[in-house]
Amino acid sequence: MSDLKKIKEEFLLKLNQKLNLTDINQIKSNLFGKNGLISSQFKKIGSLAENERKKFASDLNITKDELQNLIDTKIKQIQDAEIIEKLEKEKIDITLPERTFVRGKIHPVSQTIDEISSIFSEIGFCVEEGPDVENEYNNFTALNTPDNHPARDMHDTFYLDEKKEKLLRTHTSPVQIRTMLKDKPPFKIIAPGRTYRSDSDQTHAPMFHQVEGLYIDKNVNMGHLKGCLNYFIKEFFEVKKIKMRFRPSHFPFTEPSAEVDIGYEIKDGKIIIGEGDKWLEILGCGMVHPNVLKNVKIDSTRFQGYAFGIGIDRLAMLKYGINDLRAFFECDYRWLNHFGFDPLDVPSNYRGLSR
Ligand code: DAH
Repeated sequence: MSDLKKIKEEFLLKLNQKLNLTDINQIKSNLFGKNGLISSQFKKIGSLAENERKKFASDLNITKDELQNLIDTKIKQIQDAEIIEKLEKEKIDITLPERTFVRGKIHPVSQTIDEISSIFSEIGFCVEEGPDVENEYNNFTALNTPDNHPARDMHDTFYLDEKKEKLLRTHTSPVQIRTMLKDKPPFKIIAPGRTYRSDSDQTHAPMFHQVEGLYIDKNVNMGHLKGCLNYFIKEFFEVKKIKMRFRPSHFPFTEPSAEVDIGYEIKDGKIIIGEGDKWLEILGCGMVHPNVLKNVKIDSTRFQGYAFGIGIDRLAMLKYGINDLRAFFECDYRWLNHFGFDPLDVPSNYRGLSR
């Protein structure tokens, strides 16, 4: 047997054993290394007789290529097997039962905000936001509440600096100003968010939530306001009929102004919304004062509209039978577990608001 054949057969024997990458690298260097078997054969070529030389060189090159290919294939096989072995080890068994864990709940205030946003977006309102830290101008002056106006005292404001220029917004109404300053009419927005007043008892918390509404266009009137609020209250409380009354009131930023009460009664210790002979105040509203429009450079002879401000926590308490406002903000896990909502049940007008 020629040397080349011998080398090849020995190599094939070795290759059929179980090998890892280190073994195969060792074999490679035994063949093709500086003093490797194949490399030594190449050195022999020069000493061969003229007539043998050509054939030997050709055989040698063929053998070399064959061996090289076999080694490459083997390396690839070993690498693939290693990957498969790794994947097998890391496999996740998706048939295992889930671990028992307690899923978080959506706070009733967040739920109520989602419900309100869903109802108003259905009739064309966009949702706007404003910062909790406001300036005095947006919170009061631009809303036709100048310095020394008695309404400022009623708000029990938390001021953040000595000059009383920065404050925690006392209502969501400054979002009206921000919205109208950054764009051109028409506007049809709601702005839910946190508001702050220095006040605390069973029905007042220093931080509470409001939603502002603003609709400015040509020919908007008080009738539209009534229709909109009537629709909202019915949708929100998920009732077909609602008793509702508009009482004359006063807000510096609206003229005329009104407060809205809804009818209710108590049956078997439970509050029933929409019927009965008792009244509950739930919001303030009115036609936007021409001075407010002037402050945001809107021509009040061409555009007018309505605004409203609703206390969100109050609505949540009524709808979900919660009787102490302070519980909302105490972060009591048991309370949240009882009154909270499933995070996967996003309120929508089609699927139902609350279930
Ligand atoms: N900002 C008022 C408050 O907090 C509520 C309010 C009343 C908002 C009338 C309005 C409105 O937009 O038109 O007491």
